[in-house]
Amino acid sequence: MAKALRVYPQTTPLRGTITVPGDKSVSHRAVMLGSLATGTSIVRRWLPAGDPVATLEIFRQLGVSIQVTIDSPTSWDLEIEGVGLHGLQPADRPLDAKNAGTCIRLLAGIMAGQRFPSVLDGSRQLRQRPMTRITKPLQQMGAVIDSQDGKAPLTITPSPLTGMTYEMPVASAQVKSCILLAGLYADGETAVIQPGEARDHTERMLQAMGADVQQVGSRISIRPVQQLNPLDMTVPADISSAAFPLVAAAIVPHSDITIENCGLNETRTGILDMLKTMGAEFSVKRPASTGGEPTADLSIRFSEMHSADIGGPVVVRGIDEFPILTVAMSQAAGVGSVSDAAELRVKEVDRIGVLAGELSKMGVVMDQRPDGFSLEGPIHLRGNTVDSHDDHRLGMSLAIAGLVADSPTIITEANCMADSFPGFVEAMQALGARMEWLE
Ligand code: S3P
Repeated sequence: MAKALRVYPQTTPLRGTITVPGDKSVSHRAVMLGSLATGTSIVRRWLPAGDPVATLEIFRQLGVSIQVTIDSPTSWDLEIEGVGLHGLQPADRPLDAKNAGTCIRLLAGIMAGQRFPSVLDGSRQLRQRPMTRITKPLQQMGAVIDSQDGKAPLTITPSPLTGMTYEMPVASAQVKSCILLAGLYADGETAVIQPGEARDHTERMLQAMGADVQQVGSRISIRPVQQLNPLDMTVPADISSAAFPLVAAAIVPHSDITIENCGLNETRTGILDMLKTMGAEFSVKRPASTGGEPTADLSIRFSEMHSADIGGPVVVRGIDEFPILTVAMSQAAGVGSVSDAAELRVKEVDRIGVLAGELSKMGVVMDQRPDGFSLEGPIHLRGNTVDSHDDHRLGMSLAIAGLVADSPTIITEANCMADSFPGFVEAMQALGARMEWLE
């Protein structure tokens, strides 16, 4: 049942220290690679959100025993009995990635290497997203994959894979990871050349597990190994989730908040750089690392922001944060723009067109281009009823916009927020935000 969320204009500063749930990208990969390891992996603070749970259920279907040893609504500890690189069992029905693009695209790389057939499918939303970006390179490696006009469902027939060097046309961590995972099963070396620095969690995790992964400049290569060692790791807090309270504190006057143990992998910190360019003030304390990923406590306080022109290499480092960045831009002074971000059009929804449509209901005028948009702030936001379009990040961005609107905002289809950030509303409430679920 779709639920709606009501957000009230925020009349007091946001204050306090919170943790946000574990990183979604790392959580997907921990289940996939833990399943392929030889031995038992321990993964703490794993993210029990809609997207990674789809991955977990698929690996159970493929014969992997995964126990949840500590279970809270926002964090699970997992014990994964890895079956080894060649120990997955055929499933008796299609593998359902639900709404998760990362799940289906990385899984395709693994399933292309198996000696049994499989069908990979997902929700209506996922069935509309482009898959040729992975099926084409996998087919070049020798995979046999049938699709519906380049979209899911994907039917994979067993076939031997041969290593190759693939020059990626778009900077995408999902494509890079898919090919590297297929490379675990290919004959010889498999390499990708990336046009931009997409998130590198797959490479880091594979290296930590003893895989033969090398990076020289923009070229990343992998050679098959006999086995992967199990993981023993804590998942860092997801900077993509942290981005919502961070922007909220940047735009609600006199706010000052801290996010504990936030993942600060440089391939993910684009949002911090973009907000800094706009005048936001951060401080970083208690640097540490977990599972090969850097973390720290990250604080931000309200500041008067000015707009900026955002484009180039920072875009891929903050690709998921453009909906919430747009909300920040709407409150910053002057004309700001985003370019080099055509990928936003093929995310969960068209994150330029759909965002422009929903934010226009609150008074935001976005001048769209194929690869971005421009807008002039600061904009006096009007409370209204807006819809998430079943896109978690769009829903949470609209909720944060509601905090600085002049009257209450209702976000319909808001429960999709739990696809990446279970406990979003509770986390915001802990900082003093006024939000409530409507039945
Ligand atoms: C992800 C990669 C990105 C990102 C997605 C998660 C990943 O997608 O948008 O939310 O975990 O590899 P693309 O690879 O399509 O850019």
